[in-house]
Amino acid sequence: MSEILIEQIDQTLHLRLNRPEKKNAITQAMYATLANNLNSAAGDFAIRSVVISGEGRAFTAGNDIMDFMNEEITMSSPVFHFLKALHDFPKPLIAAVQGNAVGIGTTMLMHCDLVFAAPDTIFSMPFVTLGLVPEAGSSLLFPRLVGHAKASEIFLTGRSFGSDEAQEMGLINGIEADAVAKALELAKVISEQPPSAVLNTKALLKSGSHIAVESLMQAEGEMFRIALQSDETQGAFMKFMTSRKKD
Ligand code: COA
Repeated sequence: MSEILIEQIDQTLHLRLNRPEKKNAITQAMYATLANNLNSAAGDFAIRSVVISGEGRAFTAGNDIMDFMNEEITMSSPVFHFLKALHDFPKPLIAAVQGNAVGIGTTMLMHCDLVFAAPDTIFSMPFVTLGLVPEAGSSLLFPRLVGHAKASEIFLTGRSFGSDEAQEMGLINGIEADAVAKALELAKVISEQPPSAVLNTKALLKSGSHIAVESLMQAEGEMFRIALQSDETQGAFMKFMTSRKKD
């Protein structure tokens, strides 16, 4: 079974992370599939919006730690192609999340146009705890959303937060028992709107920060890549893998 399920429902492309036994941790191969699908959906007249969700109890546990330990990550690695495809995606992108949304599982939401979360969702960006730095433009997008003080508190302590707090922050549009159904419903509503007006409105909404986010993503990526080799990060990854082996 594919680790990314791809389904077209009317004019909506539904991409589902499908690695529930690993909490949908995202491998480089999965990033490549996601990037390719976003890039082809961008130019496909038959698709007017994309919904992204995760199968099982977690949206995603973020980057696959084994992948990061075993593969050399360069600026040409699929994770960076995915981030670029996400940032440049011109059509409405709607996320439905539940359970754990770790690392990129939270930062990718800052690029989505609408986000619906199940009541049990736990958002976390434990980059500093792992010896890493924020990614996906989140070092600009998150403080812009919640203010410098709160962004610093969350990034520097690595603490997680729930759906209620995410809604107060404006990170999500709503808390829904069936977040996927709500996301697909809104995707359908938006797909019925005049398509050029939708594209132009999304472009205008993002125009104020598009270039700034792009250049920051490059800087974050370089720092993230270097940090991956550090003792702090290798030690944190080793600690996670060892703790799981003992369970
Ligand atoms: N990379 C690789 N494997 C991962 C993973 C990740 N990011 N997150 C979870 N897994 C694997 C576990 O190793 C375990 O595999 P196993 O059954 O073969 O031992 C399986 O997924 C289930 O995870 P588990 O930790 O037992 O589930 P949980 O419900 O107790 O905890 C999380 C869920 C998400 C809180 C926890 O798995 C976690 O903290 N993961 C790491 C998150 C992270 O640091 N991501 C990197 C961000 S840059």
